[in-house]
Amino acid sequence: MAGIVLVGAQWGDEGKGKITDLIADDFDYVVRYQGGNNAGHTVIHGGRTLKLHLIPSGIMYPHITPVIGNGCVIDPGVLIEEMDRLEADGLSTHRLLISCNAHLIMPYHKDLDGASEHRLGKAEIGTTRRGIGPAYMDKASRLGIRVQDLQDEHILAQKIEASLSEKNDILSKVYGLPTYTVEQIMEEFRPYAERLKPHIAETSAILNRALASDQWVLLEGAQGTLLDLDHGTYPFVTSSSPTAGGACVGSGVGPRRIDRVLGIAKAYITRVGSGPFPTELDDTDGRKLIEVGNEYGTTTGRERRPGWYDAVIVKYAVEINGLTDLIITKLDVLSAFDTIKVCVAYEYDGHRYNSLPCHQTAFHHAKPIYDELPGWKTDITGCRTFEELPKEARDYITYIEDLAEVPVAMIAVGPSREQTIMRRWESRP
Ligand code: GDP
Ligand code: IMO
Ligand code: MG
Repeated sequence: MAGIVLVGAQWGDEGKGKITDLIADDFDYVVRYQGGNNAGHTVIHGGRTLKLHLIPSGIMYPHITPVIGNGCVIDPGVLIEEMDRLEADGLSTHRLLISCNAHLIMPYHKDLDGASEHRLGKAEIGTTRRGIGPAYMDKASRLGIRVQDLQDEHILAQKIEASLSEKNDILSKVYGLPTYTVEQIMEEFRPYAERLKPHIAETSAILNRALASDQWVLLEGAQGTLLDLDHGTYPFVTSSSPTAGGACVGSGVGPRRIDRVLGIAKAYITRVGSGPFPTELDDTDGRKLIEVGNEYGTTTGRERRPGWYDAVIVKYAVEINGLTDLIITKLDVLSAFDTIKVCVAYEYDGHRYNSLPCHQTAFHHAKPIYDELPGWKTDITGCRTFEELPKEARDYITYIEDLAEVPVAMIAVGPSREQTIMRRWESRP
């Protein structure tokens, strides 16, 4: 049995797509367990650059069954577009399985996401405006429309009608927006239903059978620990659970099936959207991280907010997810710096915080306490073993490892899959 969870240990965009693609060859199933097309994973495979939003990063391998789990929210139009794009690129999507229990993002969810952000004004969350939050709201309030509803036109129309009786009032009376008719949405959704029907399956049963017969299942997170609805920097979070516990809920695989939990962290840190960010750099070092690291969002194209590596956050991610391994990406980007800072604690109101403060006010105003390490100022993109890295780079990794108290299993030194140092990964026998 090998059930492995891969999560983001920061605020997303840690390079989850690259690492999933790198180890995917060993797996029979790669599963997305939460989120929707707010995710943007860039995978460079066989000389091609693929940008994936909903489809798991294992899609490139003909022997892998990619699965969109019950914990995801799916915009069917966007999913079909992504499937068409991959097919046009010569990648077959016929094996894709979609959980019958995953929820659908409806057109009004996208309107409400934008309208609610607009209403918040300066207090906006900075969402991707893809309808993610409103779709999860409907799920929690038990008004959601699920993938299985696409299988029965009569039921689909009934559920849309029930939902519209409330949504049209909110759209028109609260936000002054146009309303929808059932037929209008049915017209859009009938072709979606026809196209997606062959992919709909009871995916948790399939995954549990696979694990019981010693097949390998990789549960691929989107977003990151600090964007988790429960454990992140609420309210500046996404509306699902990217953490390892969410992998079980969002796939229907029990915790005893999970053998290893891999946490991905950049050698520095970025975030997209609003919210507190103690090590944020609004200076020439920050600009350098953006330019050298090419820190522009895969989904919305927004410039990411850059900052120094925050060891307090990564230690928190180690605990919340029960990480067994840390994977450090984008170490090459730090080659541009003479010295490199690492945040080891925060200071607020005369107190030192060695772990995340409980109250959001303290985190909002937290001043980072830094250690400064020497840089290496050498191109490391060609290094393939730990020993080949310059001493300062090895020391940086060892330092991060000591602070996180978990081993660094892999180090990425460039965007392509070959540009990776494998320290602790035993491929499937
Ligand atoms: P994800 O959302 O966690 O999958 O991450 P994204 O794909 O949104 O963002 C990570 C970006 O960094 C992508 O453009 C990757 O191609 C790139 N990347 C991943 N690892 C490395 C690395 O080690 N070095 C460099 N320079 N780029 C990397
Ligand atoms: P990947 O999978 C970075 C952020 C948004 C916003 C907040 C809520 O590529 O790491 P939402 O649209 O989810 O309601 O927005 O979450 N966000 C991400 N930031 N990477 C992502 O995904 C993100 N998905 C959502 O910017 O601050
Ligand atoms: Mg991303």
